[in-house]
Amino acid sequence: MSGRVPDHVAGIVPYEPGLPAAELERNLGIRGLVLLASNENPLGPSPRAIQAMKDVLQGSHRYPDGGGYYLRKGLSEKYRLSMERIILGNGSTEIVELLARAFLGGRNSAVVSDHSFLMYRMAVQAVNGNIVTVPMRDFRNDLPAMAQAVTSDTRLVFMANPNNPTGTYNTDTEVRQFLERIPEHCLVVVDEAYREYADAPDYPDSLPFLEGGPEIILLRTFSKVYGLAGIRLGYGLSGKEIIGTLERVRSPYNTSAVAQAAGLAALGDRDHLRKSVELNRKEKVFLAGELARRSISTLPTEANFLMVEVPGRTGEEVYRELLSLGILVRPLAPYDLPSWVRVAIGTRRENLLFLAGLDRIDRGRG
Ligand SMILES: Cc1ncc(COP(=O)(O)O)c(C=O)c1O
Repeated sequence: MSGRVPDHVAGIVPYEPGLPAAELERNLGIRGLVLLASNENPLGPSPRAIQAMKDVLQGSHRYPDGGGYYLRKGLSEKYRLSMERIILGNGSTEIVELLARAFLGGRNSAVVSDHSFLMYRMAVQAVNGNIVTVPMRDFRNDLPAMAQAVTSDTRLVFMANPNNPTGTYNTDTEVRQFLERIPEHCLVVVDEAYREYADAPDYPDSLPFLEGGPEIILLRTFSKVYGLAGIRLGYGLSGKEIIGTLERVRSPYNTSAVAQAAGLAALGDRDHLRKSVELNRKEKVFLAGELARRSISTLPTEANFLMVEVPGRTGEEVYRELLSLGILVRPLAPYDLPSWVRVAIGTRRENLLFLAGLDRIDRGRG
């Protein structure tokens, strides 16, 4: 790489976007690709959100409200937190980037789990921060080891709960004990992109973590259960000072008028949320049961996807074979899990197509 590009930027492995679905369909000569690679809501957005987006299109020549007033107010009422404790992001991943930018100057470090959401690493690398990687234990965040890895130059600890791509979670007690061990100079980022799907009775009610104790920020998104991944909208909940710091590095119009309107309307549609969660709950049991019946290992999941083991071949091979049958899943080599794929839990029809695809490639090998 030319000397123009700093080493820490040259060292970043760019996110591989892949071809758009329409292009893949054209190349494969098929229609109706089954999209199970990105953990999206198979029911789509709330009809109320769609209407709200249409309603604001007329005003598209105006800049959006740079403070996201109405959406932040809606979130403030939902969580009973003051508006100064809420920041909006162009997806919650933008807030991950803001965190790295705001807190990791001067070669400070961030602690992450080894099989965790790749954006944490990318954001840290982009600002030349140090990454301290902690191995998972039984595919779960090893919180005691993560607390142990915190040193005087650690400014951020990232943990996804439930975690992507494993789908595993940490309990309320585990998170509480972890937070007790975190020193004041360090901010804990609890990424709860999939929290609405979590069923386990000991999954943490994290809002109380925001009061007292160490500094913490909760990240949430409209991309998953709200079915709005395409409009890019997420938010962070934290203390006033942390949010104030992030506001310094946020660009003024980071969330669009369309996104803000959609988010607010989606928050008001409890029915769509309930239907989405119920579908996932039912289909999770179905899909995990069908895979178990085929002696295919999966990890227990609290999210809207399953991590599936493909012994004897690579995730990449299975991904390619399924793709040739019109089914898109995620191979997990980039997460250092080369013999696994991640499949989103879809509608019954989509799940049956995925299972039929697996059966077919299995027969092809036998
Ligand atoms: C753990 C985790 N956090 C955040 C996100 C992305 O959220 P957003 O679409 O809000 O940027 C994902 C998406 O896959 C994720 O798995």
